[in-house]
Amino acid sequence: MITGKDKLVKFVSLAIPTYLWVWTSWSNIPTMASDRLKPGDFLDSSGKLLSENERYNMYFRSFEYGEGFTYLVIEDSNFLVWTATTKQPIPNDSSAVLTLDHSGELKIIRQGGKPIIVYSPPQAINSTVAILLDDGNFVLQELHPNGSTKTFLWQSFDYPSDTLLPKMKLGVNHKTGHIWSLTAWLTKIYLSLGSSSFKLEWDPKVGELIIRKREQVYWKSGVFNKNINRFENIPEEAQNQYEYIIVSNEDEESFSLQTRHGDKDLMFNGDMRVANANLIARASNCYEYNTDRGCQIWNLSSCRHKDQVFVELPGYFLIFHLPTKIQILVLA
Ligand SMILES: *[C@@H]1O[C@H](CO)[C@@H](O)[C@H](O)[C@H]1NC(C)=O
Ligand SMILES: *[C@@H]1O[C@H](CO)[C@@H](O)[C@H](O)[C@H]1NC(C)=O
Ligand SMILES: *[C@@H]1O[C@H](CO)[C@@H](O)[C@H](O)[C@H]1NC(C)=O
Repeated sequence: MITGKDKLVKFVSLAIPTYLWVWTSWSNIPTMASDRLKPGDFLDSSGKLLSENERYNMYFRSFEYGEGFTYLVIEDSNFLVWTATTKQPIPNDSSAVLTLDHSGELKIIRQGGKPIIVYSPPQAINSTVAILLDDGNFVLQELHPNGSTKTFLWQSFDYPSDTLLPKMKLGVNHKTGHIWSLTAWLTKIYLSLGSSSFKLEWDPKVGELIIRKREQVYWKSGVFNKNINRFENIPEEAQNQYEYIIVSNEDEESFSLQTRHGDKDLMFNGDMRVANANLIARASNCYEYNTDRGCQIWNLSSCRHKDQVFVELPGYFLIFHLPTKIQILVLA
């Protein structure tokens, strides 16, 4: 496995004379990136977890915003696909550390702040491991004494951010009552949560995807047609790449997707991403009164005037991995 630092060392070494190469090599001893945390291990702001096939990495990423924030993120080579600390952004003070302790608690600790508990078992479990898997899922497992997996305690796929990776679900887990949904970032640097963010959800009663903000539904995919594996309001160009998996049983009601040919590597290859955001449903194109491509009609708000227009904000919303601008209403 080669870390970013390792690559940098190699690159520098090609460009400079040998005596400098020796010096550089000695002063930049590369740390091997691992894919896992064992009890007592930690990931600090200069470290990185790298999945076995090196497709995904996890680290503390800083964003410029006011005084700056740090998020624990999972990224592939192109996209940020997950962030852990959405409800409690960490100030940009470089002191954040992800730890797995000997009782099985996974948490982010930092100087001068309360720890952010990612997962805490009901009773202490001393034989655990947290692994960043090749599908982008970060999982905490309890192990048998022989090292094999006993149970899955927690997984990042249960807490999606704004990107739906294959095997991630939208819907509801009936056993726990947990709801799987995507939340749009308000801007590229600050993940706003709560009522003012767009959400992408699976409506199990009807069997369709919806985008809403607060209680208002902006867009609906239309009912899933199982015979042709299609949603009515999603354009064909976008849909012919995916196979949808819809589960409805006593344990869960869920929607997930995989690539049509079942080759998940393709899904994570940049070529498989549909580059044109226009192909996918966009809540930002729904203006209260239009019914284009699944837009829902709702009452014109009394505070809206004819001289108000929609403008695009520099935010984005990833649906099936696609960036989409968010629009807001302002005075022209
Ligand atoms: C946040 O931290 C990063 C890395 O330590 C640093 O490069 C950046 O300037 C910081 N930003 C702010 C706003 O403090
Ligand atoms: C883990 O806990 C078990 C039972 O509670 C104990 O027998 C074992 O020694 C502990 N192992 C370690 C590494 O602490
Ligand atoms: C490891 O131990 C568990 C529980 O004792 C057992 O079910 C499993 O088959 C074992 N796995 C291997 C590879 O020995």
